[in-house]
Amino acid sequence: TYTILNGTLIDRSEAKVDIEDRGYQFGDGVYEVIRVYNGKMFTIKEHLARFEKSSESIGITLPYSTEQLSEMLEELVGKNRLHTGIVYMQVTRGVAPRNHSFPAKEVVPALTAYTKELPRPAENLKNGVKTILTEDIRWLRCDIKSLNLLGSILAKQQAAEKGCFEAILHRGQDVTEGSSTNIFIVKNGVIITHQSDNLILKGITKDVVLQVCAANNISVKEQTFTLDELAAADEVFLSSTTGEVMPIIEVAGKKVGNGVPGPLTSRLQDLFTQEIE
Ligand code: PDD
Repeated sequence: TYTILNGTLIDRSEAKVDIEDRGYQFGDGVYEVIRVYNGKMFTIKEHLARFEKSSESIGITLPYSTEQLSEMLEELVGKNRLHTGIVYMQVTRGVAPRNHSFPAKEVVPALTAYTKELPRPAENLKNGVKTILTEDIRWLRCDIKSLNLLGSILAKQQAAEKGCFEAILHRGQDVTEGSSTNIFIVKNGVIITHQSDNLILKGITKDVVLQVCAANNISVKEQTFTLDELAAADEVFLSSTTGEVMPIIEVAGKKVGNGVPGPLTSRLQDLFTQEIE
């Protein structure tokens, strides 16, 4: 398959990065994961806008315009004949002798992208998934889609070791988001999800869910909810690019409702599927 390395499409086996790339040494960069359905990138504009915003917020000026990036990624998806899968794209501050402070202006950011086939997670969408709870030990700029993912990785590993799909993170009593997903609860027909501030990633899928709710008169509150509210929820679900709208049927060993996907979650799944088809 092809990959993009600094603006050029090359064979995957030829794509190599330097050991002093700042992404490799410091995690000094940002990324995006974009869904491809039927050979077409879903919500590409939103992903590129967030990519630009993440880059700018850490002082990286993208070496290409979002229009150029869009064309490059389209070519990549086309040449790889990707039907259902993802595009992964990242930019780092570039290659320079190791030093925490930024390198000289001349150092160009390093951009890479590749595609991967990935089916829709049919089984999990239908049956729902189990989750654990763990303290959110990440930094205070979770709105930046940073390559630094240690906090998320350690949480996800805890979940994996317990046979769970996701770790739901909380700062003290307040639930923030999942290690790589946004989290929603339903109580008495109202959906509640953490507001998009510095403590969570403003998910593109979350925004699609919010739009779909607005268009269908489903009440949503974007506000912090607590561990107690999570425990007392009628329904819980998550959203992400790869996971779509996925029911959560268990939190920390305790069933959500009667342990099967709830009606409002199922309705949102149908509405979401209409958006991507
Ligand atoms: N994860 N929160 C976090 C911490 C995330 O890493 C992600 C995405 C989301 C959901 O955002 P979106 O709907 O835009 O995918 C929320 C990506 C997919 C990943 O790291 O693989």
